[in-house]
Amino acid sequence: MKRGLKAISIMVVVVLLAMAAAACGSSANKVDVGIVLPTKDEPRWVQDEQRFKDALKGTNYSTEILFSQGSSAKEKDNVDSLVAKGIKVLIICPQDGDAAAAAVEGAQKAGVKVISYDRLITNTSAVDYYVTFDSVAVGKAQGQYLIDHAKGKGEPLYLYAGAASDNNAFLFFQGAWSVLQPKIADGTFKIANSSEAVALQGNSTLTRDQESKIIGQITTNWDANEAKNKAQTNLTAAAADMKGDVAILAPNDGTARSIADVFASDKAVTSYVVTGQDAEKASVQYIIDGKQSMTVFKDVRTLVKDAMGMAVSLLDGKTPETTGSYNNGKIDVKAKQTNVIVVDKSNVKSALIDSGYYPASDFKGLQ
Ligand code: BGC
Repeated sequence: MKRGLKAISIMVVVVLLAMAAAACGSSANKVDVGIVLPTKDEPRWVQDEQRFKDALKGTNYSTEILFSQGSSAKEKDNVDSLVAKGIKVLIICPQDGDAAAAAVEGAQKAGVKVISYDRLITNTSAVDYYVTFDSVAVGKAQGQYLIDHAKGKGEPLYLYAGAASDNNAFLFFQGAWSVLQPKIADGTFKIANSSEAVALQGNSTLTRDQESKIIGQITTNWDANEAKNKAQTNLTAAAADMKGDVAILAPNDGTARSIADVFASDKAVTSYVVTGQDAEKASVQYIIDGKQSMTVFKDVRTLVKDAMGMAVSLLDGKTPETTGSYNNGKIDVKAKQTNVIVVDKSNVKSALIDSGYYPASDFKGLQ
């Protein structure tokens, strides 16, 4: 009997130790906030990762950042693995806005709050909040820059857009079209590379379907190589009256640099003005060198601060502050929005260097 008791108490101790070890193990793996970003292949998202890491120093909550590498399947695996680690909040920038619905629906079912980051997840009710830049303003700023730097009348206008799987591509194009269309209508610009845009050039606003038709022709898929090939094809097909001084709506910096290189190497192109966005270091250098005309600076530090602020409010059981809402095709998602800044050669130093965003030593020829 005594021996039996001893055996039982040893067993109890063993079980307790095992339970303690398991608890320790799970708390070591436990993650409060999961962050999922689209790809490491574009400097934009590597920058976001770094800004998240900077912002997370000194927080009490544990976080983990995973990349989807351009694959919605990998994105879903990432979300599932974070949910399994017990996350309470998911901050996710979708690779493909529609395809990400399945991943976040799973997370929401598990009780996780979902924050869509920069890109909106579309056609699902499983998005709780959205932190974003003013993407329509990005497109407007790009279009306005081309207008402000137009040379006379009848200037050829080359249009390029982002990936149709990214809701932002529509917002950027919508913003650009809103200012460019009146200038196409009054003859300042003539569209050089999209028959769909020409067919719709009398419309001051476009439906999503109409935008889809144009974007289908002018998409770069956010891919610098695809942008380069498309620009080459466009210039090969262009008649002489579509060269000379030209304006180019390029949706972001990665595509702008490759499109600019193609236009720069065409002898029949006398001059070009080309837009961009993200203030990527390589494009800041292009602007200093006069190879890219402008970029739209989106201060990622602010977006990261807003996203983490929202996550912490949710973890603390509070309601995050929002400034408006975005319809995602299914619901209105409460959103916090951040303004953007136009940068060209004239203010590159004050906006990006003096502000402490980048060190001057990263660039050559800065004045
Ligand atoms: C982002 C841009 C980025 C693009 C390509 C968009 O959703 O807002 O900043 O350049 O995706 O990754």
